[in-house]
Amino acid sequence: MEASSPRPSAPADPPTASAPTTPFSTVIRTASHEQHTEAENSSFMSDLLGGGLGIPAYRRYTEQLWFVYRALEDVTDDLAADPVAGPFLRPELARTAALERDLAHLGGPGWRTGLTPLPATAAYADRVADCARTWPGGFVAHHYTRYLGDLSGGQIIRGTAEKTWGFARKGDGVRFYVFEDIPNPAAFKRRYRAQLDALPVDDLEKQRVVDECKHAFRLNGAVFRELGEQFPLSA
Ligand code: HEM
Repeated sequence: MEASSPRPSAPADPPTASAPTTPFSTVIRTASHEQHTEAENSSFMSDLLGGGLGIPAYRRYTEQLWFVYRALEDVTDDLAADPVAGPFLRPELARTAALERDLAHLGGPGWRTGLTPLPATAAYADRVADCARTWPGGFVAHHYTRYLGDLSGGQIIRGTAEKTWGFARKGDGVRFYVFEDIPNPAAFKRRYRAQLDALPVDDLEKQRVVDECKHAFRLNGAVFRELGEQFPLSA
């Protein structure tokens, strides 16, 4: 017969080495969700994608992108060996050449003559260049904000631009949105998120990267505001 003494309680679960943490790619996406919604709903974007603005507005927007992508891509060689930023610098993402083809289509061969950035665009490009020079984690924040966006919502913008202004499908005018060397964007984004998850920095630095991502969204918002002032919806 069993003794009636109370059974010893089951041993507590051994403490886990570390509490499960949210992957960094989820943290950065979640943290910038609100800013993303604001960017999507900015009046310039809504007017542009709603078909209320003409090709000149689309061209001016594309010009701004050219300044930003030059800042992102001019530094590729300098950052290639950097352990934090280097792994993100994939040649198949490069957009400057595509933007230049689009701009030649939109503005003719002299599209570059006298071209100046809007003040908000100059500030944005300066910030990207500063990060590239001094802070690889900050550069990653800008890289993520632009390229992962282009691979996602950019495809919606391309479809609308083709329909609204009659550009050839995936042709001149919308080449910026066509990643010819990325046949499977979903798989590419999965790998990109895995790289974010493996970012070799501590938690404090990750928080700073998230803050810089929010800043990147604000910088985009400022460009939209200035474009909106230049191209108010002709109601
Ligand atoms: C009308 C304009 C826009 C539309 C329609 C749009 C739409 C989308 C969509 C559908 C996704 C995919 C969401 C998912 O996979 O869960 C996405 C992701 C993203 N968008 Fe946008 N977007 C727009 C503007 C922007 C702007 C201006 C930026 C920043 C410059 C941006 C940055 C991003 C980023 C970084 C992601 C990736 C989020 C992640 O998976 O980590 N988007 N966008």
